[in-house]
Amino acid sequence: MKINIINGPNLNLLGKREPEVYGSESFNIYFEELKLKFPEIDLKFFQSNIEGEIINQIHKVGFSSDGIILNAAAYTHTSIGIGDAIKSIEVPVIEVHISNTFSREDFRHKSYITPNSKGLILGFGLDSYRLAIESFLSR
Ligand code: DQA
Repeated sequence: MKINIINGPNLNLLGKREPEVYGSESFNIYFEELKLKFPEIDLKFFQSNIEGEIINQIHKVGFSSDGIILNAAAYTHTSIGIGDAIKSIEVPVIEVHISNTFSREDFRHKSYITPNSKGLILGFGLDSYRLAIESFLSR
């Protein structure tokens, strides 16, 4: 099984960025743990702070893998382009967030990703990504 994780803006600073909200572990270290936990999965990870690069990556892996786990970060709440990209591909997308966006500011309650996603997992810290992988495995 091939699963691609795509992370959006500022998630390269996980571990340093607002640790009270996002925790103190970097994504690179967490990703290594995920690969050890799921050795049977071909797990790839891409991060960009640039909206168009995220769209390009969705196009690149959106016809050839088994699943995409997408944390579009702040673009979740603004990007019609990323929402349309998910609509345009064949591979199912699970939207994830580290924090519970519904317990935060109102502008984080809107998502352009959710309507076009297979499902949504949020609020479990970095464990949201593991839960998304488990959901692809249990299909
Ligand atoms: C986030 C939530 C977003 O509202 C925020 O802009 C992020 C991270 C999360 O994973 O909790 O950058 O997607």
